[in-house]
Amino acid sequence: MTSALIQTAALARARAGFQALGQGVTPSRRSEITPFIVMDVMARAAEIEAAGGRVIHMEIGQPAAQAPLAARQAAARAAMESPVGYTNALGIPSLRARIARHYAERYGLDVDPGRIVVTTGSSGGFILAFLALFEPGDRVALASPGYPPYRHILHALGCEPVLIETNAASRWSITPEALAEAHASAPLKGVLVASPANPTGTMMTPEALATLAATAGDLGIRFISDEIYHGLDYAFPAVTAASLSAEVTVIHSFSKYFCMTGWRVGWMVLPLSMIRAVERLQQNLSISVPTLSQFAAEAAFDGAAEMEAVKHGYEANRRLLSAGLPAAGLPEFMPVDGAFYLYADVSRFTSDSTALARRLLDEAGVAATPGVDFDPARGHHYLRLSYCGSESDMREGVERITAFLKRG
Ligand SMILES: Cc1ncc(COP(=O)(O)O)c(C=O)c1O
Repeated sequence: MTSALIQTAALARARAGFQALGQGVTPSRRSEITPFIVMDVMARAAEIEAAGGRVIHMEIGQPAAQAPLAARQAAARAAMESPVGYTNALGIPSLRARIARHYAERYGLDVDPGRIVVTTGSSGGFILAFLALFEPGDRVALASPGYPPYRHILHALGCEPVLIETNAASRWSITPEALAEAHASAPLKGVLVASPANPTGTMMTPEALATLAATAGDLGIRFISDEIYHGLDYAFPAVTAASLSAEVTVIHSFSKYFCMTGWRVGWMVLPLSMIRAVERLQQNLSISVPTLSQFAAEAAFDGAAEMEAVKHGYEANRRLLSAGLPAAGLPEFMPVDGAFYLYADVSRFTSDSTALARRLLDEAGVAATPGVDFDPARGHHYLRLSYCGSESDMREGVERITAFLKRG
């Protein structure tokens, strides 16, 4: 056979082989994770909008405001003036130093820039942190209700998320007693907390955070603090877990306070002993974080005045919802301490919040997220409303919800 014929025969065999595979390739078991329901709600809202309808968006935690001007200008300058290459896997050194300075400015805390790792949003941080901190099979405690991707990412990585039900008495956060009890039933390797939290919008008091971290330390449980909503604290100033110990892992992001969701940039503060492992992981998983976003992030710190104005807008929306929802017939919601979420008890109207959210969207044009996304056991009685949109949209949202609930 000539080499051309051999090539043609090999191509035909490969095509036939892959065609057969195409009918039978199945996803891995580890990829069988629950969808992030809020994304499904967004998709339905987009369909309504594409058909000419108007939707008030209260489903997604995505600020309506733009990134700080300085951030946008820095990215544009970097795009025009320099080749946009890979960066150091741990992040641009000047950005790591600027983040360290942020800890001094906001919390009066001295953090070694060598402990900072720049990540692809806090989502990229979770993957790196979970891979570096846990082995497959390790049990990691999470508050329920809580942010769904924590448990889905852990599951995909072969770890076991252990949901600890929280309640009003502990401001919807894990107590030291509940942590110790879960650890006694089967050893935990880690615990992850968030304050302010999503979906509840509640915060841990400084004492609650310190006591939980101390208990975790005593029990040898690794402590992770998701601080993505720091800066958006209304009830009292949030305390960083980095101030409690140099052995905790702090995960943060430019997405929320700095309104930079799509830039995909965040950071972690790690124990020094974890840095090399995380560097190796980042080198191999993504090489580095998008370069223009890192330049933008460094400059974002110069836009604090703009971002404080945006925060005042959230505070106005928070007042609007806190007053408007009880009048609409939704008097029960968790303390709206921080972030930009209000988690409302809708049990007097339904025991199926997914169906209620669908009707609210289809009939009233308000997109909201059903609680089952955040709490598989009790979420069918809750809706999460995000109030990071414009004040006029939030006002209209409350009016539409009021009319919808009155119609029944
Ligand atoms: C509690 C919490 N953590 C992390 C994230 C992920 O954010 P990002 O990857 O944009 O930093 C979100 C997004 O909504 C969140 O609510």
